Amino acid sequence: MFLHGNSRINQRGHLEIGGCDTVELAREFGTPLIIYDEEHIRSQCRTFIQACKSEGIPFQIAYASKAFCSIGMVQLIAEEGLSIDVVSGGELYTAIQAGFPPERIHFHGNNKSLEELKMALEEKIGCIVVDNFYEIALLSELCRERNQEVDVLLRITPGVHASTHKYIQTGQEDSKFGFDLASGQVDEAIKQVRAIPHFNFLGLHTHIGSQIFGSEGFIAAIDKIADYIENLDVPIKVLNLGGGFGIRYNEEHNPSPIESVVKEILRWVKKRFAEKSISLPEIWFEPGRSIVGEAGTTLYRLGAIKRLPGLRTYVSVDGGMSDNIRPALYQASHEAILANRALEPVNERYSIAGKLCESGDMLIWDIDLPTVHPNDLLAVSCTGAYGYSMASNYNRIPRPAVIFVRNGEARLIIQRETYEDLIRNDVKRIPQLIR
Ligand code: LLP
Repeated sequence: MFLHGNSRINQRGHLEIGGCDTVELAREFGTPLIIYDEEHIRSQCRTFIQACKSEGIPFQIAYASKAFCSIGMVQLIAEEGLSIDVVSGGELYTAIQAGFPPERIHFHGNNKSLEELKMALEEKIGCIVVDNFYEIALLSELCRERNQEVDVLLRITPGVHASTHKYIQTGQEDSKFGFDLASGQVDEAIKQVRAIPHFNFLGLHTHIGSQIFGSEGFIAAIDKIADYIENLDVPIKVLNLGGGFGIRYNEEHNPSPIESVVKEILRWVKKRFAEKSISLPEIWFEPGRSIVGEAGTTLYRLGAIKRLPGLRTYVSVDGGMSDNIRPALYQASHEAILANRALEPVNERYSIAGKLCESGDMLIWDIDLPTVHPNDLLAVSCTGAYGYSMASNYNRIPRPAVIFVRNGEARLIIQRETYEDLIRNDVKRIPQLIR
């Protein structure tokens, strides 16, 4: 396994992250444990900001909080000076509870409810990324009732196929998100939005997909949008190009460094817009995975080992698809290391199974490790994005604890769920039905 960020193998042969020995972390916090290398997250934030600053373009970076949302994470993002993108009342609530500046919150989603929109207006958040005609009507009625103005971006689908897993492509015409450019929906949406006195139309938003390695997809989207804006008699003050920057889950993945992708994209925007004599809008990005993905490692304790001679050896961990559904859902691949015996030579091939009652609950098919024993610790890397956020209580398994580590210190960010947490919302005494 290659080591990300501030990870290393220490003299005891243990995996160390952010100066903390993972064997001690397991002792202190238990397993499964999601460990975030805090410095790595911060440096990713700064990389985005630096890349944009160096291109001298007005910009905003909004962390897509769906990748990992919790009060501690939101506060870190606030400290780093980024904006934040939320997609639900729950994410918005978390941001507000974390004390995040409301004017730096952007609200997405293809089916925002009346209550969610109301909450966004009450909190006076920075902008709403309007997704469809129903939302235009809902939001305009709310603004009228409250006599409140709101900044609005329109989410569009430019008709671009990002090269990534089908489930995380979002720029193509046949998508549930946004107004379709090709069929004239964007024209109609702009017309409607501009006619609503309480709406301040900022510009356009597009997000073509996730876990994308180069700039080609972004460039294709920019070309389509520039062609469109060229013939538009409405000023576009903001162009939000979404997130989607890929990370290195395994050695076969080779994403271009963030700095170069961001710079290539910005240079292309400048070039295209200059060629067409369109005034340059502010460029916004919304990275999620690339901020937190590589910074996260999940530490599991090994249990049952099932050997099928000549076929396969299954090793089960104390978590699984309840804390990381990505391998089952997207065939995502992860690397791993024996955290307590990291220097021992690898000599056997294993498949790492979760503990949930599903044959599909496999975290890694085929990985070479030193001969493993029950109670060994397995560190699975690159679990920081969409792991905890897509976690569930399937099989009534409590969600793991989450910590930030930095300079040899560990801070608890999310407590491990307890069995009591699991039944908290169950009605304990159900009245007899009256017949
Ligand atoms: N902006 C919008 C409008 C989005 O829909 C997304 C992700 C992002 C930004 C952030 O994209 P990122 O930089 O993280 O790629 N659960 C899936 C990923 C779903 C992404 C949804 N939208 C996974 O585990 O791969």
